[in-house]
Amino acid sequence: MSDQRIHPAAGAGFEAAVEHYERGRPSYPDDAVTYLVNELGIREGTDVIDLGAGTGKFTELIVLTGARMTGLEPVASMRAALERNCPTIRVVDGTAESIPAANESFDAAVAASAFHWFDGERAVPEVHRVLRPGAGLGLIWNARDQSSDWSERLTEIFDELAGPDAPRYRSGRWREAFEKRTDLFGPLHHRVAYHVHHVTPSAFLDRVLSVSYVAAASEAQRERVRSEVAELLSTDPELRDRDEIVMPYRTDVFWTRRR
Ligand SMILES: C[S@@+](CC[C@H](N)C(=O)[O-])C[C@H]1O[C@@H](n2cnc3c(N)ncnc32)[C@H](O)[C@@H]1O
Repeated sequence: MSDQRIHPAAGAGFEAAVEHYERGRPSYPDDAVTYLVNELGIREGTDVIDLGAGTGKFTELIVLTGARMTGLEPVASMRAALERNCPTIRVVDGTAESIPAANESFDAAVAASAFHWFDGERAVPEVHRVLRPGAGLGLIWNARDQSSDWSERLTEIFDELAGPDAPRYRSGRWREAFEKRTDLFGPLHHRVAYHVHHVTPSAFLDRVLSVSYVAAASEAQRERVRSEVAELLSTDPELRDRDEIVMPYRTDVFWTRRR
């Protein structure tokens, strides 16, 4: 059943997509992670919360710093994967709009490919509440490079299921809550990094099926997506007859400081 606390496509989609997510989504590039860790002052013993931690693809990189990590994730199946992938962290059920933690509990908060799903007007004051004064908030997104013909076609295949009002990182609407609450957080700093994800044709399909809108769609719609992706894989000159496909990504990193 869909989680009423979060956006319906996220609730239904991420609940169903865990295995596709684990196989089809990339990690985050070292440059971007190191930049964020340094700017946020994350090190051994720092209390850090990862909001919308999912299966732990970003969390597990922050764990390597020795920080004391809390992974917050509202979707039960994602949370189970998070517990498996990051056995040393504290995993909690909750949302960015209602964080089960006392005031001023954390030295830093991060959200990886997740903040656009939050209700920014409620999440920004809530994140402010659980952070200590001067603490950093880091936001990071992996965005698929759409410059090749096949990547553009891939977007067409699943965009149809998202609809015009779907929350998206690329729309930039997630920034509005920060622009309205400059009393709570300082300016957003931004840096870009680039990387590639090597995938098999089967993981290429997983990448598509991990998109929340695809995972939340009807079986008939998913079958349509599967057959269109199969056709793309067998006809595109850059994809056909490949055992491995290189998917380019751009990573956007933002950070700000709690006032
Ligand atoms: C695209 S996934 C990213 C997961 C993980 N951070 C990563 O980098 O792979 C977005 C995650 O945000 C979670 N999410 C959606 N709405 C949320 C909310 N309001 N509060 C907290 N998490 C939320 C979803 O359940 C999902 O696990």
